Amino acid sequence: PNQVKTITCIGAGYVGGPTMAVIAKNCPHIRVNVVDINPERIAAWNDTDLEKLPIYEPGLKEVVAEARGRNLFFSTDVDQGIRDGQMIFISVNTPTKTYGTGKGMAADLKYVELCARQIAKVAQEDKIVVEKSTLPVRTAESIKRILQAEDTEHNFAILSNPEFLAEGTAIDDLQHADRMLIGGEEDENGQRAIEALVNVYANWIPRERLITTRVWSSELSKLTANAVLAQRVSSINAISALCERTGADVDEVAHAIGMDSRIGPKFLKASVGFGGSCFQKDILNLVYLCRHFNLPEVADYWEQVVKLNDYQKHRFAKNIVDSLFNTVSGKKITFLGWAFKKDTNDTRESAAIYVAKELLDDHAEIHVYDPKVTKEQIFKDLEYLLTQKGDCHSEGSEAMRNLLQRVTVHTSPYPAMDEAHAIAVLTEWDEFKTYDWKEIYNNMHKPAFIFDGRNILNAKELAEIGFSYKGIGKG
Ligand code: NAI
Repeated sequence: PNQVKTITCIGAGYVGGPTMAVIAKNCPHIRVNVVDINPERIAAWNDTDLEKLPIYEPGLKEVVAEARGRNLFFSTDVDQGIRDGQMIFISVNTPTKTYGTGKGMAADLKYVELCARQIAKVAQEDKIVVEKSTLPVRTAESIKRILQAEDTEHNFAILSNPEFLAEGTAIDDLQHADRMLIGGEEDENGQRAIEALVNVYANWIPRERLITTRVWSSELSKLTANAVLAQRVSSINAISALCERTGADVDEVAHAIGMDSRIGPKFLKASVGFGGSCFQKDILNLVYLCRHFNLPEVADYWEQVVKLNDYQKHRFAKNIVDSLFNTVSGKKITFLGWAFKKDTNDTRESAAIYVAKELLDDHAEIHVYDPKVTKEQIFKDLEYLLTQKGDCHSEGSEAMRNLLQRVTVHTSPYPAMDEAHAIAVLTEWDEFKTYDWKEIYNNMHKPAFIFDGRNILNAKELAEIGFSYKGIGKG
């Protein structure tokens, strides 16, 4: 049978780490190496204290505990990893470009290209190269050309195998995948490579869930999946604005339409706006591709999903300022949550960062409590946004220091809310629902406001305590 014995994954991030851990768990007969150029990240993956893994995901530490040292290995030796792996996954970051052509829109493929060149340089035998990163359509073709140009001796098959896991439920999503998509070339070499990867996943995923397609369809399916998911969020968020004007309740609307089996109930939760490293980046990438192929109407259609999301974040911040009698200057506003969603420590593109910036511009004092995000990360996020938006020229500048002076990060929730003028829920962490809201109310300035950006708290109970409660899309 067409079975690989060794797999190497380049990139030990939110995708590479959990994905390879689950492969190793389900395939004890395959040696899985995860390599990364970031030594701190690798050290954290190797830490004997499983609380120190670089990524927080429910169930991850159990899987790592089972497989690490048995058939799962983390290392900074990228070259050795490439030599060892019969199959090589590329799972490096593909952020939005911050310079040059396509700035702010296109995916930056420099890390992916570096990997391809590295593979060509050190490979000593034929390899199957798997694109796990999310990539624009036709990237596989470029990777193949680079590999073949740099190394004419060996044979490379390129597969596209996009990852559909959601952070916060990554392990469960990987273990019980709705589907696994594998795109490959139509020639015999391509088909053999597809078969080898199918044989890996077939160790735990039912065959009928393994979809094989042509490479380009697979690449485009990933961008389309994220665009459609984000579009659902922007659609319900758009309606939330209308609900607030008309007196309708967006959760009732979502429930009512979600019962229609053509629509379905999932991903219809109104909120302060979507975040995460993927939705915005992948839609902008799709928009860029459409413009490139001269389809401006299609590009504008999808771009509106991102614009609506920006509008939703802005609306939330503006509602806080308006409600607090048009000024938040010097007022203590406490953020519950900083991660872009619950059950992850990932903060990339989190709505909290944008809302915080708007309130800081209005001279608010921001206090933050998040159960899993570190103080260092929160400051890093703000510094990044402030330099990106041109508010401050460099990290550590005086303007930056002045702004960040008004941010305090707490490691426990109650002190964070002491003497606050308002509380804003930015992440839907379950623990927020269990707090003693009466005590919190007693220790706040009055009128005590709560802006629930996730509609998770009990509005009726809070109103009875005396809070001025504002949810999203509650007319
Ligand atoms: P990440 O930033 O967490 O991890 C990427 C890792 O690659 C970093 O640790 C970095 O040091 C490493 N790296 C970069 N260049 C390297 C090189 N030349 N050699 C060795 N290591 C290198 O990124 P994340 O979130 O894991 O995303 C990876 C890809 O997966 C992206 O294309 C993303 O769009 C896609 N994706 C992400 C999902 C998510 O939920 N985060 C879900 C599905 C796809």
